[in-house]
Amino acid sequence: MVLIIKDEYPDKLFREDGKRLDGREKTELRPLKMEVGVIKNADGSAYLEWGNNKIFAAVYGPREVHPHHLAKPDRGVLRIFYRMATYSVFDRKRPAPGRREKEISMIISDCIEPVLFLELYPGTAFEVFIEVIDADGGTRCASTTVASLALADAGVPMKSLVTAVAVGKIDGEIVVDLSGIEDKAGDADLPLAITWFNDELSLLQFDGSMDADEFDTCLKLGKEAAEKIYQIQLDALRSKYISIQESVNQSSNTSGGDE
Ligand code: CDP
Repeated sequence: MVLIIKDEYPDKLFREDGKRLDGREKTELRPLKMEVGVIKNADGSAYLEWGNNKIFAAVYGPREVHPHHLAKPDRGVLRIFYRMATYSVFDRKRPAPGRREKEISMIISDCIEPVLFLELYPGTAFEVFIEVIDADGGTRCASTTVASLALADAGVPMKSLVTAVAVGKIDGEIVVDLSGIEDKAGDADLPLAITWFNDELSLLQFDGSMDADEFDTCLKLGKEAAEKIYQIQLDALRSKYISIQESVNQSSNTSGGDE
């Protein structure tokens, strides 16, 4: 029997032609698409495909907090449940939520909380369930982005959307939107999130090594990339309202014809 070791890292993360292994330029994002209103039972929901990542987010709330002792009398609570399906990665991943999932849930919650008006919802919870069904690097950023979109789809009052993306360094070069292999075999990974109402960072993590100039470049490229992703989030919300408008127009035309 031959054992397949899928996670052997390549020696080089750039091809002969200077492009990344998946054919991208250094500042190019992976293909990205988003859709809202994908889960009918939820108050709001969104789905995202970003490179090989496939992620659903479903929002419920404001609603009663379970367990009750987590409720806060003077404000609402945001509860994020980030889960990576056991079949979403090549390695065997235990079905029970592990430390990584709990940590990422907390990070996403900290990223999104600044845009919400939780003080308006005492004693209640907004719960966001994030299911990563296929994972290939950058899932905390993709999950933050799709969770913020699902909250907007639920009509939860928000100061703005939140957009996240990872920048980093591979083979000594700064690149945008690291893939799974670039994340593992690269020199540095720097996920960041932006809250657009105040243009501030609500997430900045760093793993690896780079100098101060490279760090500045990462922030600049990260912001530029986030702006592109933000437009795709807005387009996903717009598409929903355009299709509602179209179906209203269609049904009023039809009922007009019946008279
Ligand atoms: O996904 P993200 O980059 O935010 O988090 P990470 O912990 O740095 O994981 C990087 C990537 O490693 C994930 O996106 C998955 O593709 C992969 N991974 C895995 O294969 N098995 C795990 N148990 C956890 C992560």
